Amino acid sequence: MCGIVGYIGEEQAGPILLDGLSKLEYRGYDSAGIAVFDGEKINTHKALGKLRVLYDETEGGNTLKGTCGIGHTRWATHGIPSVRNAHPHMNSDETIAVVHNGIIENYLKLRKKLEGKGYVFNSDTDTEVVAHLLDYYYKGDALKAIATVMQRVEGSYALAILFKDHPSHIYAARKDSPMVIGKGSGENYVASDVPAILRYTRDVFYVENEELVSISKENVRFYNTDLEEVSKECKKVEWDISAAEKGGYEYFMLKEIYDQPKAIKDTMNPRIKDDNIVIEELGMTDEEIRRIDRIYIVACGTAYHTGVAAKYIFEDLARIPVEVDLASEFRYRNPICNAGTMVIVVSQSGETADSLAALRLAKERGLRTLGIVNVVGSSIAREADHVIYTWAGPEIAVASTKAYSTQLIAHYLLAVKFAFVRGMISREEMSGYIREMKELPAQIEMLLAGKEKIQKFANRYIAAKDVFFIGRGLDYAVSLEASLKLKEISYIFSDAYAAGELKHGPISLVEDGTLVVAVLTQDVLVPKMISNMQEVITRGAFVMAITNTEHTEVEKSAQYVLYIPKTCRYFTCSLAIIPLQLFAYYISLGKGLDVDKPRNLAKSVTVE
Ligand code: F6R
Repeated sequence: MCGIVGYIGEEQAGPILLDGLSKLEYRGYDSAGIAVFDGEKINTHKALGKLRVLYDETEGGNTLKGTCGIGHTRWATHGIPSVRNAHPHMNSDETIAVVHNGIIENYLKLRKKLEGKGYVFNSDTDTEVVAHLLDYYYKGDALKAIATVMQRVEGSYALAILFKDHPSHIYAARKDSPMVIGKGSGENYVASDVPAILRYTRDVFYVENEELVSISKENVRFYNTDLEEVSKECKKVEWDISAAEKGGYEYFMLKEIYDQPKAIKDTMNPRIKDDNIVIEELGMTDEEIRRIDRIYIVACGTAYHTGVAAKYIFEDLARIPVEVDLASEFRYRNPICNAGTMVIVVSQSGETADSLAALRLAKERGLRTLGIVNVVGSSIAREADHVIYTWAGPEIAVASTKAYSTQLIAHYLLAVKFAFVRGMISREEMSGYIREMKELPAQIEMLLAGKEKIQKFANRYIAAKDVFFIGRGLDYAVSLEASLKLKEISYIFSDAYAAGELKHGPISLVEDGTLVVAVLTQDVLVPKMISNMQEVITRGAFVMAITNTEHTEVEKSAQYVLYIPKTCRYFTCSLAIIPLQLFAYYISLGKGLDVDKPRNLAKSVTVE
């Protein structure tokens, strides 16, 4: 998500920090900052926008003197991109400086507590609570204070910390957010990502979950949260810089496919509290939720496909009528609206021209608007009445993967919450859905572990001319997305059909050897899907089926079957899409195409 660099040694830290941060530029960020200890105090400088601004304002890092420092590039999650929200964050007397990657899930509660004790906050970030909490617990022993803070905060973090009292040390800690220590000679480094330090050293220690690190120029010591020292082996990084940027993956798309378990946890976990769904940013009372009588979900491309899935879930679970509209259509029609209408605009970038125009139209009509957005501070996030951030982290590959998965999670949270508030499901049922949702990251990991099988299958279809995806209900929704993934990065023509529609036209396209991908995860619809699969097999199609482990009977009606774990029927898109993302990826890879940058496409479509 964000980027961290730290240096301690004999050289001036500022230029090294800026150089390290520049190696993380490919990930995209909105602001940056550094803190350097000058022997007497910790000096910080932060700037909004490109690293170049920070570079110019600090004369390449040289205006901050000192040989020990930390730096950060920020991809906003809590609080808009601004200088005050940029890291490092400090305690009030500026004796502790903190940079942080990840999300502190209970920051609001902690902030309230600290404010009650007289602490004054200068930013809207979750990170600032760490600086003040450290101040609160610090009694001269930095490691002890950090270990105590680690017990108080919930969520994910990689932290690099300076204490004025300990000028010859950088401290670090991590949980569920990556962190490496670079070993030099008479100097050491800390970073969130290997590329930041690769120019200086290839000898690294990987910090494990719930570990603390004390780094001086001569030594690196690791501790568990009981402050017992942990021994660790130094590893050699063999990657070149371009592989390192992608975390060792060949393409960003594959990295982002693999990011999905963590990304959906980041979207989901902060909003699940004590077996309840709490979406503070929704800004709606239960009474207002009960008054909604129609929802429009408006978006483009992949984001639109999450809306198609959400319609099935909202309608079945919360009994609210939902219309899903392509933003480019919605903006030019005359939607029927009343005081109970809510418009949800879904967008990864938050800048898609049609989605933004649709949002503005909804606002002109006086409708309640909600954005489901990834990029904090983007136009849609700013202009919507309320916004649920997906916190997927920067998505670099043009083909959207983790944005899709996290948008689905946002829809699930909303649909289950609305269903409960409107009395459509009991507390026990809500707990059941929450339980199933929490299983998804581990189930996705299981599916990712089976990637070789999918690669082998994909290699057989590299020369395919066209591919069809069929499904019913939510399986139709996921087929739309799978088909888009395939066509945009492999240039193979593909289309998705509601399986019941086959006989009304599309079946005439099926000929000997045509690949038909059938998705059947909805128990009650499996027999219907099997009939549709038989119809295409009779016309010569090769059918690859995706179903759950309870439907082994599907093997009789498909030439190739991929199983996904059983989950609640509303959440199946989250699992079924994984092998299909991999399928598209491996076809594109096998054809030797530029997977991350398919022809004619841009990551953010800011023109109509
Ligand atoms: C496909 C893809 C696009 C986007 C669409 C909307 O992989 O990425 O279809 O989903 O351009 O973009 P956002 O979500 O940024 O509004």
